[in-house]
Amino acid sequence: MRIIKLDAIDSTNTYLKSLSGAGKAEDGLTVVARLQTNGRGQMGTVWSSQEAKNLTFSVFKDVSFLNISQHFYISMAVSLAVYAALKNLGVNKIKVKWPNDILSDDKKIAGILIENVIKLNVITGSVIGIGLNVNQTEFKGLPGASSLLLLSGQVNDLDEVLSVILKQIDIYFDHLKARNFKSLKAEYESHLFRKNKPSTFKDAEGSVFSGYIVGISDFGNLLVRIEDNIIRSFGFKEVVLLY
Ligand code: BTN
Repeated sequence: MRIIKLDAIDSTNTYLKSLSGAGKAEDGLTVVARLQTNGRGQMGTVWSSQEAKNLTFSVFKDVSFLNISQHFYISMAVSLAVYAALKNLGVNKIKVKWPNDILSDDKKIAGILIENVIKLNVITGSVIGIGLNVNQTEFKGLPGASSLLLLSGQVNDLDEVLSVILKQIDIYFDHLKARNFKSLKAEYESHLFRKNKPSTFKDAEGSVFSGYIVGISDFGNLLVRIEDNIIRSFGFKEVVLLY
């Protein structure tokens, strides 16, 4: 599998999307940067990462074998791949915060940004961007962030961590191709942050409410049981888990 290593780029997702647009991205092509000058997070946020301390990379995957209603399974497969990789690296107490933040000991250590590549109205590929905090020890203004070094006291080799993650992405994409949707969902739900715990949320209208995360729908929505025993279903961007 081809890996392009860059010293600096605005965003590995943006760069890989442009390669794909030019027909220059094959399945599995990975772009990794020592520094991103305009790293992007979900919902228009910024992803900042100290130069050469962490992993910031993107992988191009052919997803033409999935139909549009199955797209959340890409996000599940990638979250599970990062989860499995971290477990193999000895990280403890890992949870997946819906839709795809990876936490350890309740602190965020990795974020995932998946962007579709659309050709002639058909989603043909996905650019899967992953930021994993590896050897950074200071997160100014981000009290909820952590890194592998802070959690384990050990410095990790970025290339080694990258290769462990890429291997797991291959494994979980094999599950996707085999259409193991039920088992992917069950595995994802088993790692869900704050599942069955009393939690507080904010919906798209700004209303704050409490409830219990009970699982994920077949289309990737978050299912929350609210106090009067009604289950509400939320799509991406429709709800924020506050605590
Ligand atoms: C999030 O948690 O909001 C998602 C963060 C995703 C960050 C990664 S770093 C590599 C890739 N390039 C980007 O610009 N963003 C993703």
